[in-house]
Amino acid sequence: MLRERSLRTGLKTRFFGNKIYSFDTIDSTNNCAKAVAGCGATEGTVVIAEQQTLGRGRLGRPWIANPNENLMFSVILRPAIPPDQLNVLPLYVAVAVAQSAEQVTGMEVECKWPNDLMIRGKKFSGILIEGSVKQNKVEYVVIGIGINVNQREFPADLAARATSLRLELNREIDRVELFREILHSLENHYTRISTHGFDSVLPLWLQRTKMLNRPVSVLQQGQTITGVMKGLSPQGGLVVLADGMEKVLVAGDATIVGM
Ligand code: BTN
Repeated sequence: MLRERSLRTGLKTRFFGNKIYSFDTIDSTNNCAKAVAGCGATEGTVVIAEQQTLGRGRLGRPWIANPNENLMFSVILRPAIPPDQLNVLPLYVAVAVAQSAEQVTGMEVECKWPNDLMIRGKKFSGILIEGSVKQNKVEYVVIGIGINVNQREFPADLAARATSLRLELNREIDRVELFREILHSLENHYTRISTHGFDSVLPLWLQRTKMLNRPVSVLQQGQTITGVMKGLSPQGGLVVLADGMEKVLVAGDATIVGM
């Protein structure tokens, strides 16, 4: 069981994880984190659960993960950024989780826009950012992170696209070690970003993607846009060259054409 005391022991952070709410079962760690953030919880507060009954992914999809085998947690941030910068946050979180997963497993982790993490072309982690904006100011942000850590089987409809660290590495992963590593990396990048700006994370994300200069297809609000990925906008949008014009896409699902 993931308990506050064991999660905090050996944590090398200054403020990420200073308060950890841990649950056996909860509807969604993002729901709980939003509730405590609304009541004034400090930056770096974590909500973690072994099982979610209403785990959410992006675009209204469910996030389904076996209990006691994976990591599902949310972290509260109060970044001093304008609301139009919020789309950079998933890229920052993706870089931090990718570096940590690589550190713990030794395997190469790839970033897929906007917020998926992949190993050998299969997704093992997703990020869901939610927040509250009041009078055009960011009040709080909740970063929800789901990682398939030690799960050995996936439902048939997911098996071709989803994987876990254990399946790829062929050995059990220490979830607490991975959790601590992620909090440490999240805090380090967050501190750096506070000085250098959120867009300083973009080159780190770009180093980790296979999408750059490849033909990509993006499904956005029922419409498919196909073009060559040329980079990221300062706000974290996907820059695509399509029909001779550069377009900046801010949401949707992107795949490399032919993969
Ligand atoms: C995605 O890939 O679509 C994002 C998945 C995010 C899942 C995590 S699990 C912890 C947190 N609580 C939720 O309800 N969702 C996020």
